[in-house]
Amino acid sequence: MKSKCFNRLITCFLFVCFSFLSSAQNENNKEEELYRPRIHFTPAAHWMNDPNGMVYYKGTYHLFFQYYPLSSVWGPMHWGHTTSTDLIHWKEQPIALYPDSLGYIFSGSMVVDKKNTSGFGKNGQPPLVAIFTHHDPKREKGFTDFQYQSLAYSNDEGKTWIKYAGNPVLKNPGIIDFRDPKVMWYEPKQKWIMTLATKDCITFYSSTDLKNWTKESEFGKNAGAHGGVWECPDLFPLNYNGKKIWVLIVSLNPGGPNGGSATQYFLGNFNGHEFVPSHSNIKWMDYGPDDYAGVTWSNTGNRKIFLGWMSNWDYATMVPTTTWRSALTLPRDLKLVQIENELFVASQPVPELMKIQSKPFLFSNINVYKNLNLTKKTGPLQIPIKFSLETNELKDVAFRFSNSMGEELLIGYNKNENNFFIDRSSSGKKDFHKNFAAKHTAPRLSKAHTIKMTLIVDASSVELFADDGLTVMTSVFFVNEKFTQLNLLAEENIRIKKLEYVTLKRSMPLFNQTK
Ligand code: FRU
Repeated sequence: MKSKCFNRLITCFLFVCFSFLSSAQNENNKEEELYRPRIHFTPAAHWMNDPNGMVYYKGTYHLFFQYYPLSSVWGPMHWGHTTSTDLIHWKEQPIALYPDSLGYIFSGSMVVDKKNTSGFGKNGQPPLVAIFTHHDPKREKGFTDFQYQSLAYSNDEGKTWIKYAGNPVLKNPGIIDFRDPKVMWYEPKQKWIMTLATKDCITFYSSTDLKNWTKESEFGKNAGAHGGVWECPDLFPLNYNGKKIWVLIVSLNPGGPNGGSATQYFLGNFNGHEFVPSHSNIKWMDYGPDDYAGVTWSNTGNRKIFLGWMSNWDYATMVPTTTWRSALTLPRDLKLVQIENELFVASQPVPELMKIQSKPFLFSNINVYKNLNLTKKTGPLQIPIKFSLETNELKDVAFRFSNSMGEELLIGYNKNENNFFIDRSSSGKKDFHKNFAAKHTAPRLSKAHTIKMTLIVDASSVELFADDGLTVMTSVFFVNEKFTQLNLLAEENIRIKKLEYVTLKRSMPLFNQTK
């Protein structure tokens, strides 16, 4: 009798455990299905923030990232690693850099040291050299000089990493925020230039061997946006009509155009010693709330490919995913565009995206008045998806994604304000942070008569490239049920010259089935 009772108890206990585990598993599956990006990089599990050490080498794009492998909130930083041969399909690799006695591994960059200036190379092969910030969590309490710059190198194409025994290579002069080195080779002076975020400005350093650094100049105390601390800079030239224009990218947090984190840029001249801007207004890489700490790949020749972290420090640790947190934007090609007398950086999704496009639906010359149900014409909405719209009429127009729960995401153009917007205020889960539910706007910079909007929608993100990437907005959202319907809305009758609708094939693995 006693043992029968005991057996029943055990069975009950096992049943409760099993139900608990399977409901947790169901929740996980639901979350994977609703939020896990299909075409944007996200690690299989745990916390990620800034992209780091982006370098192209021997046919492979390397992408490292701020990573905490023990939790899905920020913690002691490592460098995670992923690789791709086409910028679209990513394969996660073993962790590259672990915290050590000098501290956590904060953001930084990577170079191919072609001339082996560092002496780290072996057998005539150039080493890959990572230049990153060591952040000492012990010194953080009570001192100001707890961030400094260090090196690590690889002689097997990024598979294994050795930290330089002489670290740190750039000591801290007493500046609390002293981090995120981006290093490039400056050919005319045959030296490396480090662009470093130093609290409220950028400091440039130079070196001939990556190990000894000399301060060159400072830039920015009285330029650009200063709503928060400056972080994650980048410096590179772009050609415009045969002229070399230097682009200086600076992320800042908070102080973005729609609140929280965002990335500004300056155009001007750099002579190996100092950067001189050619404008006094503020320019933003992306006006949306969710593109931060973006920088470009090194060693890609004249092509400049940018990618950022698709989140915002306001709520990054609170977004409603559990086993993983946050994704990166799509890689974007950068170029300069002139509007009247002013130059801007325009960003466009890399053309490699075409590889995962299916056959497009194309509509030409359609009239929209009030409400056009597009899914009636195309069948149920299948995300990920890309839309391109073109109209010769400057009138209000918006895409509305919705589901049967009445959740909706609106993306469009407002004629009176002459701005683009993404309204995620009723797009699903939003209570995790007071600033999340909002309508975000971005000015239209183009003066053209034709408005163009390209949208790329993944499970929990939308990227808007308006007017060939002159105005860009990135936003994340968290539906409670998948969007199934798409409508085009217009108060006044508007003629849409061209509307293209292309579903995209998943390029990231299904993690809950492979792990
Ligand atoms: C930017 C940032 C960097 C820093 C890293 C730490 O998001 O704050 O300045 O190196 O994140 O994870």
